[in-house]
Formats: sequence, C-alpha cells, structure tokens
Amino acid sequence: MTAASGPLVRPRRLRGSAPLRRLVRETRVHPAQLVLPAFVREGITAPVEISSMPGVHQHTVDSLVDLARECVAAGIGGIMLFGVPATKDARGSGADDPEGILNVATRAVVDAVGDELVVMTDLCLDEFTDHGHCGVLSTDQRGEVVVDNDATLERYASMAIAQAEAGAHVLGPSGMMDGQIARIRQALDEAGHSDVALLAYAAKYTSALYGPFREAVDSSLTGDRATYQQDPANGREALREIALDVAEGADIIMVKPGQPHLDVIAAAAEVSPVPVAAYQISGEYSQIVAAAERGWIDRDAAVAESLTHLSRAGARIILTYFAIEHATGHRAPD
Ligand code: PBG
Repeated sequence: MTAASGPLVRPRRLRGSAPLRRLVRETRVHPAQLVLPAFVREGITAPVEISSMPGVHQHTVDSLVDLARECVAAGIGGIMLFGVPATKDARGSGADDPEGILNVATRAVVDAVGDELVVMTDLCLDEFTDHGHCGVLSTDQRGEVVVDNDATLERYASMAIAQAEAGAHVLGPSGMMDGQIARIRQALDEAGHSDVALLAYAAKYTSALYGPFREAVDSSLTGDRATYQQDPANGREALREIALDVAEGADIIMVKPGQPHLDVIAAAAEVSPVPVAAYQISGEYSQIVAAAERGWIDRDAAVAESLTHLSRAGARIILTYFAIEHATGHRAPD
C-alpha cells in the first residue's frame, strides 16, 4: 500500500527512539526468572576454573556459599547445584550418601541463603558413576551392557530423599529415565517431603554442546547418551515426554538445550499447564564466550539477545551460566 506521500503503514514509527522501543517491547528478561547452574567439587581447597567455560568454576563448599550469596545480591531466582565427587563407582554411591559432596554443599547453601534463594539440585547419577552414565548398568538378554531403567529409578528415589533431607527446595531429575518423575514423587511423598518440587528435564536432547559440561563434572563417559536422551531430529516426541512428566507430577518442565530447540519451547508453552523452563547449556555459553574473546561478537549484546530468544519462545524460567552477569547490569537497557 502506498499513497502519493509514501507508505501508508510505517512499522518503523515505533522504532524511532529508545523510549518508544522500550514501551512496545514484548519480552523482557527479569533477574528473578534466572537460575545459575553451579558446580561443587570434593577435595579441592580453592575454586578451579573450567578451561572450556572461562569464568565458570568448580567450587569448594565455602566458595559455593559465597557464590550463592552473590546470586541473592544480584536478585536472581535460584541456583542449581551439581556435585563432583572425589571418587566414583558403578552405582554412584556418592549421590545418596548424606555426606556426599552434593548433599553436604546443599545443606551449606540452604543454611546460608535458603530463605532468599530457591535452591535446586541436579538429580542424576552421571556425576557419581565411574562409567559416566546417568543410570546404573546391567546386561540384557543378548549380553549387551545397557542403562537399566527400572534399577536406576530406585537409585533416583534414594537420591531424591537425600537431597530433600539436605534441604533442597526443587529437585531437577535430568537422567531421562522412563517413569522417573512418578517414582521420585512417590518416594518424596512417602518420606514426608511433599513440599519439595520437581523441575523435570522433560525434553532433554542429546547434544554435542554438552562438551564443556563434561569437563565441568570430570565426566568419565565414553560413548553417548542416545539410548535415553532425545534425538534432536524429533519435535513431536518432546510433547509426549512433557505430557508424561506433567501427568507424573512435574511442577515445572524444562527443554534443554535451549536455543537449538526454540520450536519445542514454543510448543511446550502452548500446551503446558505448568511453568516452562529452558536450559542454556554449557556449549551455548562457551560459544558466546569464545567468539567474544576473539572480538568477533559483542558479549553483553549476544548474552542479552540469547536470553531474549528463550524468553520470547516461551521460557519463563531460564537456567544460564550468565545469570549473575546478566542480572548485574551488563544487560542491554530495558
Ligand atoms: C546430567 C546433566 C547434564 C547437564 C545437566 N545435567 C549432562 C548431560 O546430560 O550430559 C548438562 C548441562 C550443560 O551442558 O550445561 N546430570
């Protein structure tokens, strides 16, 4: 449509000044919706930087508590704790040991900031097993070594109780075993922890972008997780996983990785009766950091943009290693 004087419709009118752009902006990322994933390692006396994730550290219990206080000061919504034990075994014994590193650290963080910050724990065996898989192994009828779904559920049930007793507010089952939400919910309720919530990694895809995380948790995995994590080629399957987790009692569902699966986040946001979260994973972090280090992209702008994409797609909660950095003012003006 044009008139003698030019176009009749001029969308640029609303882009003409920063105040106008701010007024009509549809999506904002607020610090309160951000969750910082954090690593605590047994047997170290000072934080150790993760070489593939510059700026992210494996923490001692004390430095983790300091970090949690920084989260409070930054006004972010929560912290998600991952443990790196000094010793690993086939069944991941450190995971449900009350003196295991993750449970010790959880108690310390909850004691320090539990009234001001949502304290979440990763509920999975991979950091604790010497084979690095998210569950326990067994040999099937053909003699193949497999990740044993139902035996793993019993380990998760025990781990859930240990984490709840350590004071975690929200548990994040991330192992992609069938029936894990129902089994964990049942275990928690039977043990008197009906107030502990479940953030289900409902649609968790295999990804090459987990690489830096494997260094972060000193993973001993050889091979891949393709028999339990989803195939990135599949979208419909994610909706099935989400529906199952909601039916099993998930309080929040999550899509992971985030930015490669914006379509899945958007589809989940359409149908999910519970809040939808997204996890901007280690490789998503490292891609931005590495390119910015080379001067190829602007770090603050790239971070702000990436979080906005997740938010616009429909994620109301975002797990991101940039949580404190973004919340404390590096972000683009809103
Ligand atoms: C499993 C778990 C993983 C991540 C979070 N929980 C690793 C995996 O599935 O291989 C990855 C997080 C990231 O890459 O930032 N405990």
